[in-house]
Amino acid sequence: MAVETTEQTQEELILGFLSESGDDYTSGEALSGKLGLSRTAVWKRVEALRTKGYRIEAIPARGYRLVEVPDRLTSLEVAPLLGTRDLGRTLHHHAVVGSTNEVAFRLAQDGAEHGEVVVAEQQTSGKGRRGRAWVSPPGLNLYFSAILRPELPPQRAPELTLVAAVALAENLREFGADAAIKWPNDVQISGRKVAGILTELSAEPERVHFVIVGVGVNLNCQVEHFPEELRETATSVSLARGEKVHRAQFAAGLWTRMEEWLDLYLETGFDAVRARWKELSSTLGQDVLVRTDRSELRGYAVDIDPSGALLVRTEAGQVERVLAGDVEQLRPRQPQRPL
Ligand code: BTN
Repeated sequence: MAVETTEQTQEELILGFLSESGDDYTSGEALSGKLGLSRTAVWKRVEALRTKGYRIEAIPARGYRLVEVPDRLTSLEVAPLLGTRDLGRTLHHHAVVGSTNEVAFRLAQDGAEHGEVVVAEQQTSGKGRRGRAWVSPPGLNLYFSAILRPELPPQRAPELTLVAAVALAENLREFGADAAIKWPNDVQISGRKVAGILTELSAEPERVHFVIVGVGVNLNCQVEHFPEELRETATSVSLARGEKVHRAQFAAGLWTRMEEWLDLYLETGFDAVRARWKELSSTLGQDVLVRTDRSELRGYAVDIDPSGALLVRTEAGQVERVLAGDVEQLRPRQPQRPL
């Protein structure tokens, strides 16, 4: 049975086949066979891709070769690289928004499905945790919000932030950055913040309606893109590695990992996520100062409990459970020397 495809899907498929072939040429005949289109129709789609910024070489008797992909985060760039079932398969791409979390929240209220993602090249009022702003200059970094509809009681929704943090730290490592998670959900490279997660929830007492997992990752921004007050504490992958990051590859890799971790979490529970979070954490085993809305707590970060709360042993020897707050890591502990 012939399946009808839209022009957008045909272009995604062509890009997928050309990317797979790398530096080799793919004949027009092979493409027309794979897509079930005439060679003229294939040529038309290649022309359309060129007008969207793709450099595609065409040599008679050899075929087509993908030479350059624009640095953008639309489905055309991301879909051919995605390994997901749901996450990012419907992608709402914007050049500029106030906040992707706000756009995603409205879409979810209007019935958007599990896995839909809102991504923007720039945010004019990117939101951070605890009322802070998220610096979001155009065309350099990754800002997105995923709409999730997990079957969970609302009190377990915060665990999703740790699911995202694990995927994020793993993906950063995959891209050569020595990333670690600072409780609850900051991701750092060499003690400087490179990424953050803002999770928002719509629920009734027994049931989650939807969760918006908003993620900002500093990929290619440079020192001058940060306001003065963040220059000592923030970084980007490109600053840390001295190399530009391919944003579409990063986004596709991250969403693929996020879905894998989410599937595992929903099938087996929080234990595997918690164990991996602990391996990736830079907070545990450190002396910390935790600031919550109302108080400050000083102590030793012992563990996270089965719900993701931070367990801090105070000087008085009591173990306190912290649900939310900002952690400052005090001087790092030296590894113990054997006697
Ligand atoms: C934090 O560490 O304070 C959380 C930062 C979260 C920023 C992201 S960028 C994409 C999404 N949209 C927003 O407005 N915020 C999140």
